[in-house]
Amino acid sequence: MAPGRGKTGGVTARGGLRRAVARTRLAPLAVFPKRALTVARHDARVVGSSVRWLFTSREHHNYTYELTALNRGQLAWFVAQVCGVPVADVRGWFAELDGDQALRSHIETTTAAAARRGLADRKVRYGRRLGWYAMVRARRPGHVIETGVDKGLGTCVLAAALLRNAAEGHPGRVSALDINPEAGYLAAAEPWSSVVDLMIGDSVASIRELTTPVDLFLHDSDHSVAHERAELAAVEPKLAPGALLLTDNVTVTNVLAQHAEQTGRRFLAFIERPARHWFPGDGIGTAW
Ligand SMILES: C[S@@+](CC[C@H](N)C(=O)[O-])C[C@H]1O[C@@H](n2cnc3c(N)ncnc32)[C@H](O)[C@@H]1O
Repeated sequence: MAPGRGKTGGVTARGGLRRAVARTRLAPLAVFPKRALTVARHDARVVGSSVRWLFTSREHHNYTYELTALNRGQLAWFVAQVCGVPVADVRGWFAELDGDQALRSHIETTTAAAARRGLADRKVRYGRRLGWYAMVRARRPGHVIETGVDKGLGTCVLAAALLRNAAEGHPGRVSALDINPEAGYLAAAEPWSSVVDLMIGDSVASIRELTTPVDLFLHDSDHSVAHERAELAAVEPKLAPGALLLTDNVTVTNVLAQHAEQTGRRFLAFIERPARHWFPGDGIGTAW
């Protein structure tokens, strides 16, 4: 039934009054309580999840969270489109990573014993890294670069995908580049470490040292425009034909989209929706 109409379809007095007020300068005042309630409900949810996070999480940067179920489904379709594979395969790879108990318990126990354990959550939450995993499973790259390693959660995810590929006859390695000598402790254990080459130093200088052609490049280091551009410039001559470029910076800069346009590639962005978290989410920018 249209608003303002009675069951019989006739115009009610209340509906008529509403329409009359909507035509006057009193309209914003009349709807103010409704608008205030809507925004207050929204803000209460954000404050609620912020307070819960402040008292239950130890993380102070590089936050981890699950994606909402809807967003996870969208990520599966995103990977399927970028990699040209059936979405059912992508869902299967998501389930494969979720069900990798060896990786999960390695991350939990190593986090619990790490020097930085006071600043890390033990619970394993991959977020958008599920997409990185599925892209490595779909593309079967021989050489992956990840710039920016931090604890090594993403490196472990990439290594786990490379190990599965190797078991299916498609071996590959990940060059994990970070400026911090303490980075990468999660990825320092077998079997994951067997496919990881950790390089400590500025990522642009490290990329210039690499000699193996790069099939998949992921920027997740210094998120300034200048540094993201410098990494792409350094990696471009090292790329294998048909290489896939990823950026973790897509909610902040337009650098990869511009690079895609300048180099005749396609570009797509996925934006995360974290579940039960105040953080609005990062994303995955892709160029291919
Ligand atoms: C957001 S974290 C990386 C997160 C990681 N990829 C993951 O999946 O959890 C960013 C990292 O970039 C590193 N970093 C910052 N500037 C850098 C640079 N110029 N060269 C290499 N690494 C850098 C930092 O030390 C930090 O560990």
